[in-house]
Amino acid sequence: MTRILLLNSGPHSDASHGYRLAMETIAALGMDNVQITERDLVKSPIPPIGRDYAIAVTSDSAHNAKEFDWSERLIVELEQNDMLFIVTPMHNFTVPAALKLWIDHVIRINRSFHATPQGKVGLMKDRPTFVLVSSGGFHAGERAKQADFLTPYLRYALASIGINNVHFFPLEGLVFGPQAVERAMDEARQQLSVQLPLTAVEWAQLR
Ligand SMILES: Cc1cc2nc3c(=O)[nH]c(=O)nc-3n(C[C@H](O)[C@H](O)[C@H](O)COP(=O)(O)O)c2cc1C
Repeated sequence: MTRILLLNSGPHSDASHGYRLAMETIAALGMDNVQITERDLVKSPIPPIGRDYAIAVTSDSAHNAKEFDWSERLIVELEQNDMLFIVTPMHNFTVPAALKLWIDHVIRINRSFHATPQGKVGLMKDRPTFVLVSSGGFHAGERAKQADFLTPYLRYALASIGINNVHFFPLEGLVFGPQAVERAMDEARQQLSVQLPLTAVEWAQLR
């Protein structure tokens, strides 16, 4: 069985274009035995990082300390899945606050990464990861008129915990009407149709 974790981090939840495309993509993977765990970070918010957590994470507290309950729950959920889908809008040039909070809970010293003199070494297993990035304007390629801090940031953050097999698919120009939306969806589908067979081969080798 392939276990997929789908993180949905935008305010439109399952009405978002990114979510629609993620579900289409999962179906197109053509895997017969799939279990999907959906975590909607906006509909079911996770708690903010409080002082108790901030103290615990900087003071050698035990992994099962109650301050880490949410962090532990989210890390275990990540560990229990073989493939990751992240549906995210671009909010002010980077990840939305809901996804940043998930990152803050999941990147935890001596749990999801070790600090070494050479930098952070990830402790999570690598897995195929698809990130669908929706934006009202354009953030990738020649049409981009704004900086993209989302893609390099999320790539770096995931790599710090060991997730390096990450593929980004932009869905751009979504505020420019239905034709622009269809064009964005088609472009992303096109890119996915190139990546999916490669991922399927990689996946077969990993198993
Ligand atoms: C608070 C907020 C900030 C936004 N910031 C940006 C931005 O920096 N760049 C951009 O192109 N679009 C921006 N948008 C537009 C959203 O990215 C776009 O509406 C959204 O991704 C729609 O995609 P979806 O249907 O997949 O959710 C912003 C929207 C909101 C609500």
